Formats: sequence, structure tokens, C-alpha cells
Amino acid sequence: MAIDSRRVTVAAMTFAPKSIAVVLGTRPEIIKLSEIVKLLGDAAWLIHTGQHYDPNLSGSFFDELSLPEPDVFLDVGGSSRGHQIGEATKRLDALFADHRPRAVVVQGDTNAVMAGSLAANAREITLAHIEAGLRSHDRAMPEEHNRVVADHLADLCCAPTQTNVDNLTSEGIEGERVVLTGNTIVEAVLELLPDESDRAALCEAHGVEPGRFVLSTFHRPENVDNPETYRTILEQLAGLDIPVLLPLHPRSVKRAQEHGLGDLLDQLTVTEPIGYRAFLGLEAESALLISDSGGVQEEASIVKRPLIVVRNSTERPEVIGTFAQRVLPGGDIADAANRILCDLGSVHDRLSKLGSPYGDGSASRRSLDALAAR
Ligand code: UD1
Ligand code: UDP
Repeated sequence: MAIDSRRVTVAAMTFAPKSIAVVLGTRPEIIKLSEIVKLLGDAAWLIHTGQHYDPNLSGSFFDELSLPEPDVFLDVGGSSRGHQIGEATKRLDALFADHRPRAVVVQGDTNAVMAGSLAANAREITLAHIEAGLRSHDRAMPEEHNRVVADHLADLCCAPTQTNVDNLTSEGIEGERVVLTGNTIVEAVLELLPDESDRAALCEAHGVEPGRFVLSTFHRPENVDNPETYRTILEQLAGLDIPVLLPLHPRSVKRAQEHGLGDLLDQLTVTEPIGYRAFLGLEAESALLISDSGGVQEEASIVKRPLIVVRNSTERPEVIGTFAQRVLPGGDIADAANRILCDLGSVHDRLSKLGSPYGDGSASRRSLDALAAR
């Protein structure tokens, strides 16, 4: 399937005010749905499940991405997965009974996606899944179950890459239900990536020198829920011969406290989660990225920086072998990092010449165009 580069006109004008429910709950969904919400304008009925509620995981992203306040905030955050999904589904069902949208849009693989998909399906409302077709084939990940359910319930699957289209085809999801769009993260990065002159100031503000630091994030249960794995990761980061900046997700802060790992955190430059514009600037100025984040895997290919992905599996194989290499949780991150760091100039040079597999920045418009066509 080829990306249809002709059909990128915005069809949002054909939607009535508040007729498209956009359901989101976490930091990456806010980022990756931002352009869609803006293109929809008055047509967007923005519903935040409240899965992420700290200002530095949620509100600050609305501000930076110039998004309107959510129309509805469901407040299901901080609870178990079953409670989040059950409670959000119940409340969405009540909302949709009161005010029936023409379509529901969800993005990615979080609990908010599962709830939005179930609620749309239960009321027989057209469901569009943005970032469809990703598969880790790792059944230990809640995200794998969330995204499989969303894809199978969706009337429209917007797949970022041909690999994602192929995954859907192999599960019998094909034809009119699938459109190849690229990934909407590209437009978010293009909108907010600071230019080079601003990046030096960002580095200074975060106490690092351009090109001479590692930027790292960890939040996956497979890395931070197991005390031994988490300790191994932090020991290896602390042992690197280059400063490591570690903006820490609240889940990882809690686990470090529970596992008694504070002494290791003291050896790293640990910060609160960083705003999106600053984080992108730091990514672009880093020597190397070390992370278990999905979004960072995609962004590495846009800012052209090498990435060590610390995961048992990845649903983003497109960047493995070019921008990224994978190390298992508890595996030898230090060895992989030192190999890259000792040859950094040529690694950066090689990556600067490679294109991103995630598209040209029109995925949001293509997705809405396909939705309007239905
Ligand atoms: C969720 C997603 C994950 C995504 C990540 C993005 C699922 C199953 N997981 O993981 O796919 O990569 O978001 O960051 O949907 N917490 C706070 N403040 C907040 C939010 C959470 O302190 O604003 C704490 C709470 O104690 C909570 C824990 O973090 O119990 C985990 O939050 P949760 O939203 O359940 O999962 P994430 O790890 O954030
Ligand atoms: N991010 C950010 N500030 C941070 C850490 C990450 O803005 O301190 C951004 C990052 O650029 C990426 C997104 O958050 O776009 C990824 O979120 P996360 O890793 O929480 O979720 P995932 O992508 O793994 O689902």
C-alpha cells in the first residue's frame, strides 16, 4: 500500500461542531493527537480520561501544543488498569448516550484507548484508531492487548507504516478499514523542535553541554517494576563516562523509592518530566538516547540521534538496525553505549543522511480525510 500524497486536504469542514469525540489520557496521546484536534477545530469534542493528571504529564502539553482545554475530564488516573478501563468506559458510555458523536478517535495503546474503543463499539459509533497495526507480539504488555482490541473494533485503522498495514492484513483487517498515513508524531516534532540557537540555552538550563550528554527515560514495568532490573539499569547509566540526564516519570520515581534506589539516582542528573519543546531540543543535542519509550523511538529517527531501546520486544521494528538497537532489560547497556560513544562523529554523520520511516508530517490530515470519506 502506498501513502496517497494527493489526498491531504482537510475534510474537517464537513464535520459539525463537537461531532468527533477525541478520547485521550496520557502524555503521548496528547502529543500525537494535537494536530488532529487542531485540524478538527470546533468539530472536536475533547475528552480526557484523566489517566495522566500531573501538570507536567498533561496540562503543560496542552499549553505548549496550543490545545483547547478538554471539554470533559473523567478523572480515572492513579488506579488499577481494570478500574481505569471500566470506569472510563462506563462514563464514556453515559456521555455518548447523552450526546452521540459521529465518530470516536483514539490513538495508540493505552488504557484510554481501550476504554474509548469499547465505549464507541458499545454504542455502534464509528471508531478511528490512529497509530494502528503496531505489534510487539509480547502478551506480557498491557499495551499489546489494548492495541489489538482497538484495531479489531476500529472501523478505520490509520497505520503509520507498511509494516503496520501488513500486521493488520495478517489478522484479517484490510480493505476500506485500513489507510497508510505515516505517524502523527512527525507533525508534532516539526511544530515544536527548537532551532539550534535555542537549543544551546536549553542545554545550559538543564546543566548539560550540547553533544556531550546522554538523554534517558524509563517508565516501562519490565524495567522499573523489578528491583534488580531497575538497579542494573541505573548502575550502568551511573557508570558511563558521560553525564546522563534522566527526566523521571512518576511511576519510576515511586518504584525507585520503593526499591531503595535513591543513592543511584543521586549519581545521575535526575529531573521532573520535561516540557515537550525542551525535551525535543535536548534529544536533538544529545550524544545518545537510552530509553524504553515508544515515542522516543520514533523521534530518534526525526532528530537523527542514536538510541538504545531497553525492552524485551518492540512494536517499532522500523528503526532497529538504523537509528536504534535493542538491549534486553537487565542486559549490557554500558557496552552498547560505549561502542556508540567511541565512534560518535561517524554515527551522527551516518544517521543525519537517513530518512525517517514515519512519514512526512501529513498523517493527521490523511487520517481525517479518510475519516470524512467514511
Ligand atoms: C501509561 C501507559 C503506557 C504509556 C505511558 C506514557 C497503559 C497501560 N500504560 O503508563 O503505555 O507508555 O502511560 O507515559 O495505559 N502517575 C502519577 N501521575 C500521573 C500519572 C500517573 O503519579 O499524572 C503514577 C500513578 O501512581 C500511577 C502510575 O504513575 O499509578 C502509573 O500510571 P499509569 O497511567 O497507570 O501508567 P503509566 O506507567 O503512566
Ligand atoms: N517526553 C517529554 N518529556 C519527558 C519525557 C518524554 O516531552 O520528560 C515526550 C517524548 O518526546 C515523547 C513522549 O513524551 O514524545 C513519550 O512519552 P512516554 O515515553 O511517556 O510514552 P510512550 O511513547 O512510551 O508511550
